[in-house]
Parts: sequence; C-alpha cells; structure tokens
Amino acid sequence: MASTTWKSLFKKKDLNRVIAEAHDPNVSEDHQGLKRSLNALNLTMLGVGGIIGAGIFSLTGAAAANYAGPAIVFSFIIGGILCTLAGICYAEMAAMVPVSGSAYAYAYATMGELIAWIIGWDLVLEYAFGAVTVSISWSGYLYSLLHKTLGIGFPDWMIQLTKGPWEQVVLNDGSSTFGTWNVPATIISLIVTAILVRGIRESALVNNIIVVIKVGIVLSFIGLGWAVIDQANWIADASASGFMQLIPKAVEVVRDGRNMMAYGLPGVLTGAGVVFFAYIGFDAISTTAQECKNPQRDLPIGILGSLIICTILYILMALVLTGVVPYAQLGVPDPIAVGIDRIVTLRGWSVEAQKTFTFLVKVGALSGLTSVILVLMMGQTRIFYSMAHDGLLPWFHKVHKNFGTPHIATWVTGLFVALCGGLMPMSLVGELVSIGTLLAFVLVCLGVPILRITHPHAKRPFKVIGAWPVAIAGSAACLWVMSGLPLDTWVRLLVWLAIGFVVYFTYGRKHSKIRGKD
Ligand code: ALA
Repeated sequence: MASTTWKSLFKKKDLNRVIAEAHDPNVSEDHQGLKRSLNALNLTMLGVGGIIGAGIFSLTGAAAANYAGPAIVFSFIIGGILCTLAGICYAEMAAMVPVSGSAYAYAYATMGELIAWIIGWDLVLEYAFGAVTVSISWSGYLYSLLHKTLGIGFPDWMIQLTKGPWEQVVLNDGSSTFGTWNVPATIISLIVTAILVRGIRESALVNNIIVVIKVGIVLSFIGLGWAVIDQANWIADASASGFMQLIPKAVEVVRDGRNMMAYGLPGVLTGAGVVFFAYIGFDAISTTAQECKNPQRDLPIGILGSLIICTILYILMALVLTGVVPYAQLGVPDPIAVGIDRIVTLRGWSVEAQKTFTFLVKVGALSGLTSVILVLMMGQTRIFYSMAHDGLLPWFHKVHKNFGTPHIATWVTGLFVALCGGLMPMSLVGELVSIGTLLAFVLVCLGVPILRITHPHAKRPFKVIGAWPVAIAGSAACLWVMSGLPLDTWVRLLVWLAIGFVVYFTYGRKHSKIRGKD
C-alpha cells in the first residue's frame, strides 16, 4: 500500500496523450483552446524580447568591475554556451511535446507527477520572480531617466515611492532613508498584465515594436562605440600573453561578508554565473507552443534563433563597453549609459549630443525591460494554465471567451508580480531567479536522454545530435553554476520548494487528473 502510494507520486502522464492534447484541445473535457497565431518570426522576436534586459543594461558593469574585468566577454561566451546546450534540449522537447506547460509538461511525461510539480513550482522563481526583478530594475531606470537625465525634481515623499521598504533612497538633502512602495514597478506590471489579458497577438505586436527599439539602441551602441575602442582598456594584465591579458590577476576579496576570488579564471567563471541572468527568457517562448501555428518547426527556430542573436549582441556589447570605459569604472547600475557618455566624449560631440544619446539609451533600456517583463509573465501564466489543466492548481485553466487568453492565471500572476515588485528588495529576488532557472534547465537536459530511452520511436521533429553528451554537459554546467551561488540562495530555494510541497500535498495531489484515472 505504502509503496503504491509512493509509486503513484511518480505517475507519468502518457506522452501520446500529452501530444494529442497539444494538437486537439477537445481530447480533454474542459479544455477551451488558446488561439494559434504565432509564427517563427513572432517567436524569435518574443525570445529576443524576453532575453535582452536587466542583465545587459544593469548587471554587466558590476560583473566586469568586480569579477572578470575585460574578460567579461569570456563570461558571456561561457554563459552563451551553457544556454545553447540547454536551448538545444529545450528545442527537442518543445518540438516533440508542443504544449504550453513547457519544462513542467516534459517532466510530467518523463519523470512523473512529483518532479513535474517541483519543476512547475520552481518555474515561478524563473518567470514570476524574474518579472519582479526586472520590474524593480525598470523603476530604477525610469527614475534615473526623469531625475538625472531630464533633471526633473521630486519631493521626498515621491522619492520614497520609487523603492520598496527594504531599500534605501537618497532624499533631496542628501540623507538616506527607506522607501515605502515601489510604485513604478507595480504600475508597469499592471500595464503588462492588461496587455497579456487582451490577447497573444496584441502582446506579440507590442513585443515586436519594443524589440525593434531595443535592438536598434543596442546596434547603435555597438556601431558608435566600435570605432573609438581603445584596446589599452582591454589589457588588464600586461605581464600575461595572448587572450590571458584580458584577465586581471586573481585576488582574494570579501564581498557580502564572504571570502571569494575576484578576477583570474575564477572571476571569469563567477562573472559567467552573474551574466547568466542576461540569457534567461529564451525558454519562455516554449510555453507558447499551443499558440503557435506550426510549433514543431517554429519553436526550435525561435528558441535557438533568439539565443544566437542575443549571444552575438552581448559579446559585441561587452567588447565595446570594456573597450571604451576602463573596467574598474563600470561598477554602476547603468553601465551602458556610462558607456554611451564616454563614446560621445571620445567622438568629440557636444554636451547636447551626450544628453540626447543618454536619453535614448535609457529609453531603450526601459523598453527592453518592459518586453522582458511581458515575456516572463506570459511564460508564468502558461505554466499555471497547464498545471491547472492537469488538476494540480485551481481556476487557472480558464480561458477568456473573447480574448482566448488564460485571464485568471494572468491577473493572479500580474497582481503577485505587482505586489512583490512594490515591496521586495532586488537583491533578494535576483539570485533566486538564477537558481530556479538553472534547476529547470538541469531537469530539461536530463529529460532528453530519458525520453530517448522510454520513447525511442516517438516523432522528433528536431533531434539533438549527440543527445547524451549535450544533455550531460548541459546539466553538469548548470549544476556547476548553481554550486557557485551563495548558501542563503540555496536555503531560499529549499524553503520555496517546501512551500510548494505543502500546496501539492494539500491540493494538487488530491485533484490531480491522472490520479483520478488510477
Ligand atoms: N534576461 C532577462 C534580463 O536580462 C531576464 O532582463
């Protein structure tokens, strides 16, 4: 009896049924279909929309200044390789099992219900908390644009409304105090929620417009900066030879109360862990599988296409940024704005031109961050939709009659993100997002070889060449980056998963549809 119960926790969803449901919504009773309107271009744009954001616009500078120096470009290359390994695995799974549950659904078919629950719950860290983190960064960029760039003054009570109650703000007289509620973060989350509820086509259209703006700004940064790179800025260790000159000599430092290695090869690796955040988001498009016209062909194109485009842009941006600004000066929250200031100065342009370009970079950053919030929240709603569809969560599978969107899941996600963005400190959520995403990547990578064994003859429209080495390398790389994250982040992950178990054992387990078929 006990062993039956234990075994039933790992009951798998029949893969053929999952695939059938993806193609024919009527296979299951209460399933109202999502609208299929996305093509390969929309998916690639959604991928780019979800990837380029706070990582490159905010974190790059600190990662270069504190850990990798000019060798931050190697950190980006390592991060790109790691994500490509995971992305290839996602592409095989998404083309084979094109359902909105993405990693959650793949785990349901490969490792059973409990692991699927863990991954579904874990994805809240990536998507919902990812959106929270980026909404806080959005608020910071908005304040910087209005106050620093446009010179608009605000009374103290308004300044306190730009950060949450655990973060410090600087008032007009130079004194510091705590914020009260991060109102811009809350407002942007609610605006994005309204767009998402309105429709997937409308959301994709807004995303397309934003992506054109932000990629335009990124390309302008690269184009303007490339000609004024001073290669001396890339030399961090003149006593080394070749590429090693880019890597500052390793030193031991104390950061956040922890002893750690900065610079040297360990610094490059830590830098890769930090800039990993910049790649998060490409996987979110796999959650739109049931809204794609031709998911089996288009999802691999969207996932890998957006990843390749962003990796190339990141490498070029890192080269330009560290080539125009000495890396030690990059430890600021808006490194790209600092970079554009320097580029304009090096080109000998006027102060007016400097102001205009800084303004444009900040507008680009704001638009870029908006599409990241949109794509991550969209991913979250589709995961909730799928979990509710399987009976593991209530209500979220309901689809709006006119808009064809999972409106309840969207509003609940939106309100949660708006509340957390208003109150939580960014430092608390940022690393949680990375650890949650990495855990999901490990499980998706492992799912590929497992399905090769359990379902060798299933149709694989996109097949990973060398599935075993790719899956093992991908999951090992993710575990290795996870191992470098601080202990308190691990503790928070475990606490989050423990809360998930309580929800599962009090609700999900009792309402699970495949258990109903025991
Ligand atoms: N990759 C996304 C960003 O950097 C999460 O904002």
